[in-house]
Amino acid sequence: KAKAKAKVKAKAKAKAESKEVKSAGNFKVCVCGGAGGIGQPLSMLMALDPNVKELCVFDLSVAMVPPAGVAADLGHLERKSDVKGYVMEVGQKPIDNLKECLTGCDLVLVPAGMPRKPGMTRDDLFKVNADIAKGIVEACAKFCPEAVLGLIVNPVNSIVPAMAELYKKKGLDPLKIVGITTLDVVRANKFSGEITGKNPNYINVPVIGGHAGTTILPLFSQDKVAKTIDAEKIPDLDKHVQDAGTDVVNAKSGKGSATLSMAYAGARLGKSILAGLMGKKRIECAYVKSDITDLPYFASKVQFGEKGVTKVLPLGELSDYEKKRLEEVKTQLKTEIDSGLKYAEENS
Ligand code: NAI
Repeated sequence: KAKAKAKVKAKAKAKAESKEVKSAGNFKVCVCGGAGGIGQPLSMLMALDPNVKELCVFDLSVAMVPPAGVAADLGHLERKSDVKGYVMEVGQKPIDNLKECLTGCDLVLVPAGMPRKPGMTRDDLFKVNADIAKGIVEACAKFCPEAVLGLIVNPVNSIVPAMAELYKKKGLDPLKIVGITTLDVVRANKFSGEITGKNPNYINVPVIGGHAGTTILPLFSQDKVAKTIDAEKIPDLDKHVQDAGTDVVNAKSGKGSATLSMAYAGARLGKSILAGLMGKKRIECAYVKSDITDLPYFASKVQFGEKGVTKVLPLGELSDYEKKRLEEVKTQLKTEIDSGLKYAEENS
């Protein structure tokens, strides 16, 4: 018995010492666009994570606040994280400027890019934001190819396929590119809590498909609380989740899109990714390269482990309403994935 115990202990020690698994509190994280609307609160939430040893706040010199200012501010939180700011002039390339910032990063969160204005679709943003994402992704490919890249920049449905294909072409793992759809899950949980009168903290509705309009498909039938909601209320609730981003854009009347709730959602995912890298498995929904449907990219439950995404989980059982919606999701999402693939083809 003692021998077996010693064996287990030795195995755990070897695992902890191996380069693949980092010990708690030892991670380097970068937030690109870290002085922006999402970037600032996201940087704050990541600086509070006890797993973060070094936090890099990267942004352009034209940002609302200099990234060095955000770093100086966050550097006074009574946490162990060491916060540094990195700045780049407009027109320069991250690959020429971010060596120190990105080297050794385990996680790069990317809310860099333009947000939607009222009347704009996420697709209108595509070209501008894809070029921004490409610059950052190419720098990551060079300086931190093993890092997980969490892309928040919209339109996620097209940008993630574009960037994952660029990674593939460089011989890197396309599953390192993760589209952050956590805000849809957060909203589905909150709205289910409001309807049922239950605490949303104990609700976890998987949201599959993509991250725009009809491609957002919350699976209320798969949560023990949300599945008690009357069937006739589901279509409106579904629509409420789909339109929630636009509701915030309109409520902010031209002065931005969801920033605080997005930062909360991005940090939720970021913390799960770091926990996974430490060897504690975590399940979250994310939009990634996938073969669980006939589409090459899809949001579903994903397992995060020692190398980032370790498993893309199957959809599970769907209600009749969800099955019908899934067909609608696929038609719309296919077009948006194709724009991403076309971008990758024309810009590699
Ligand atoms: P923002 O304009 O407040 O901040 C964006 C920041 O990115 C700015 O500080 C800007 O200087 C910086 N930036 C621009 N180009 C850059 C580059 N090449 N390198 C580094 N930094 C750069 O915008 P906000 O509200 O923070 O939104 C950011 C992105 O997140 C938008 O594309 C928005 O559509 C998207 N978004 C995604 C959500 C999701 O659920 N995935 C939810 C809400 C917004």
